[in-house]
Amino acid sequence: MISLNDIEGPLGVRISGCDLSRSVDDADFRVIHEAFLGRHVVSLAGQRLTPEQLIDFSRRLGPLEPHILAQHHLAGYPEIIVLSNIVENGQPLGLADAGTYWHSDISYKARPSRTTVLYALEVPAEGGDTLFANLEAAYQGLSAPMKDRLDGLQAIHNYAYRHDRLACETGIRSPLTAAQLAETPAVTHPIVRTHPETGRKALYINPGFTMGIEGLAEPEGKSLMQELFDHCLKPEYCYRYHWEQGDVVFWDNASVMHSATTQTLDPGKRRLIWRTIVSGEEPV
Ligand code: SIN
Repeated sequence: MISLNDIEGPLGVRISGCDLSRSVDDADFRVIHEAFLGRHVVSLAGQRLTPEQLIDFSRRLGPLEPHILAQHHLAGYPEIIVLSNIVENGQPLGLADAGTYWHSDISYKARPSRTTVLYALEVPAEGGDTLFANLEAAYQGLSAPMKDRLDGLQAIHNYAYRHDRLACETGIRSPLTAAQLAETPAVTHPIVRTHPETGRKALYINPGFTMGIEGLAEPEGKSLMQELFDHCLKPEYCYRYHWEQGDVVFWDNASVMHSATTQTLDPGKRRLIWRTIVSGEEPV
């Protein structure tokens, strides 16, 4: 039988008694979905999934979209992008430096991802954790004058802003192609978004893809962004998730941001994760 335990901290729920390799019945799915809306990050341990089963479950959460870096799709399954630091026969198994900075998935598109699903096939006993910050709680924790100041402001998000910096810093990534650049022009989103299902407000900016604030001069925009990032990353809003093999974790990109920590992972410690991205709606 399905059972739920809140993770101690500002977000997260562990669900047991649910085997995602079988079709989840509607009653159990409703329980999972309610927990997702309330706790933002859901973890289901001990799964053994084929690509089809991961895709089937992810589709219950919404339509899937292939990631822009098609070179890292799982062969035959464009819905799955492989995240991995493993190199076999001189070939990387996947994207080694995915999300090693605070971000909200696909915030650089007009319709960002609503939900991200990760399935851990191989993870180290130590390291390779994923960090989360609860941006609804962070919004609630702002002063009234700051909430007034943010009301109506739009932030500018862009993929190349981060990708090109990583390409220079790590040398792992190749520059974006002309087609990839054309697919990712800068977009704007409200700094405070209203959740499409619960109606609750959350901050919606992230150090990864937010490059400025519309209508503010660059120094003023950067200084406001930094103040908000420092606020969101206070320990009371953050949680560090430690992976076990077989974990499926999915989260709500409308209410949390996250960061991988693989930039500090010993390259000898193998990590292999499959990820699907569930489409979302335009933030309002
Ligand atoms: C991601 O940003 O989706 C990757 C997170 C991780 O690998 O820990």
